[in-house]
Amino acid sequence: MQSDGRGGRARGHRRVNGETVFPAGRGTTATTMRSAGVGTVDLDMAGDEVRIAGWVHRRRDLGGLVFLDVRDRSGVLQASAGPDWSTGAAMEAVRGVGVEDVVAIRGVVTPRPEDARNPDMATGDVEVQVAELEVLNKARTPAIPVYRAPEDELPSEKLRLRHRVLDLRRRELQARLELRHRLVLAVRNYFHSQGFYEIETPILTKPTPEGARDFLVPSRVHPGEFFALPQSPQIYKQLLMIAGFDRYVQIARCFRDEDLRADRQPEFTQIDVEASFVQPEDIYAWCEGLMARVAEVAGIEAPTPFERLTYHDAMDRFGSDRPDLRYGLEIHDFSEVLGALDFRILRGAVARGGRVRGLRLEGGARLTRRQIDAIEQAAKAAGAPGLLWAKVQEDRATGPLGRFFRDDTRALLGLAPGDLLLAAAGPDRMTSPALDAARTASIAALDLPRVTEHAWLWVTGFPLYEDGGGGTLAANHHPFVQPDPRDAHLLESDPLSVRGLAYDLVYNGTELGSGSIRPHDAALQTRILALLGLDPDEIETKFGFLLEALRSGAPPHGGIALGVDRLAARFSGAASLRDVIAFPKTTAARALFEGAPVSVPAAELAALGISVGGGE
Ligand code: AMO
Repeated sequence: MQSDGRGGRARGHRRVNGETVFPAGRGTTATTMRSAGVGTVDLDMAGDEVRIAGWVHRRRDLGGLVFLDVRDRSGVLQASAGPDWSTGAAMEAVRGVGVEDVVAIRGVVTPRPEDARNPDMATGDVEVQVAELEVLNKARTPAIPVYRAPEDELPSEKLRLRHRVLDLRRRELQARLELRHRLVLAVRNYFHSQGFYEIETPILTKPTPEGARDFLVPSRVHPGEFFALPQSPQIYKQLLMIAGFDRYVQIARCFRDEDLRADRQPEFTQIDVEASFVQPEDIYAWCEGLMARVAEVAGIEAPTPFERLTYHDAMDRFGSDRPDLRYGLEIHDFSEVLGALDFRILRGAVARGGRVRGLRLEGGARLTRRQIDAIEQAAKAAGAPGLLWAKVQEDRATGPLGRFFRDDTRALLGLAPGDLLLAAAGPDRMTSPALDAARTASIAALDLPRVTEHAWLWVTGFPLYEDGGGGTLAANHHPFVQPDPRDAHLLESDPLSVRGLAYDLVYNGTELGSGSIRPHDAALQTRILALLGLDPDEIETKFGFLLEALRSGAPPHGGIALGVDRLAARFSGAASLRDVIAFPKTTAARALFEGAPVSVPAAELAALGISVGGGE
């Protein structure tokens, strides 16, 4: 018998390259209090006496026989008590337990009778016949059930977050957090193998501009002064390059006080990467190697090299800088044909320098008026005044746009009977988001087939700046992006047209990561900041430490940050980041289990030199 040296069998894991590798969900082996994790018990152990410990998942009392399903991290195992093998005391103890009580059981592994085997249960061929049961801790009736029959609905998410500890006992959440653990482990191993050092950067820091608000932390010793929690380790990782560390990685916690959406949390985790003497190609190669590795861990495909699209082409063809390329549907420019129709809106839009762009939906004429209206609503919610459509029939076209078709319009647009054309007219900045929304809604309405299950994409050449309104410029991403050398001469004369050496990694329509090559020249970095409207004093106060470092001999450097939460969510099929975070915040930015944030007594605030206004 193979022993793990603690009096029990080491099961459920194997050794690979000197590392212990646990199969998914298992790995719960012997301790001084048990000889095996319940999920590791199988027919090979028939006849063995085992000591298991865990939670009572379910109890069924059939009169003469009592069955307990016992759960631990490794799975669920049936324990049975019956007069032929359990003492009277054991029977009584088993009858006395309730769900979620914590119990320890000593008993013998026994094959189940053929007709009592459960193929849906990993341990369904065996049971443990109870010789002894000890209640280690009684549990109150759980506020939400942990055991659910397949047809039972989950309680509301609010209730589950309020009772998160119970919710986390669910196998689904345990499996997601286990996958997350294995992904992060693979990330660390991968970067270690590529010569990266993991270096921690401060949590109490100075504001880093990543486009969100900072969480501020008051300094007691310096009343009236505040640290900021890092929105990202951006500047620190650049400082590490200047310090000569060459290759840095950090599984970094980041904090951003921003409005939450399903793919955002106020605190989240990045795989933060920076390297010296690199160009974008180096970062792409490392990330593709990394993604291939983590995809393998999650059992999905990431064939490399990944497809690439420039930002310009992504916006032109898909209306989005993170298109979901699982679907082939593309936006086309119909300005020439539609702009020539006797239709004032279209002619006007083209005359004002806009375009008429749209989607050609094969077989889309089968959509009902309501379905088309729903697609139009999606486009309107994304900022378009409306969406025009034409249904193509055998002999004519109908609909608000179809009515204006000439005899040759269908042929010129490449439309066949049964097709639907959706079009939006105006400047690209308005039609792109609208057509992106219409594309997504059309894909769902028509249930379009996927061309691939796993669409990986680099979007490259993001603009350095965006219109900040009122004649100002805003950083498109953050201000630490090297201008593309081909556009650098336009920095002052036409800053909005300057592309940056910036790139995003997109997976199935989700932005997984974002990065850039950084300006390593202090004068260039200063010019970039000045164009954002910062005066020299502000630049010095906010970024003087970075500029000073850049002047001390900074190597060319660049990097990327990938969202761990998004990666784990997408790889595990979770609808929300909350499903891959042990204790997440709600969309209202609250922690429901522990109850945070909280108000602070006035005396404590006074000690920090803070007075809170509002209210009265
Ligand atoms: P960025 O702000 O694009 O870049 O963030 C990089 C990646 O982090 C993840 N992410 C988030 N995940 C969950 N909740 C959030 N609120 C959230 N915000 C961002 C996303 C995103 O792609 N310093 C730069 C990186 C660089 O230039 O190297 C940065 O932080 O997956």
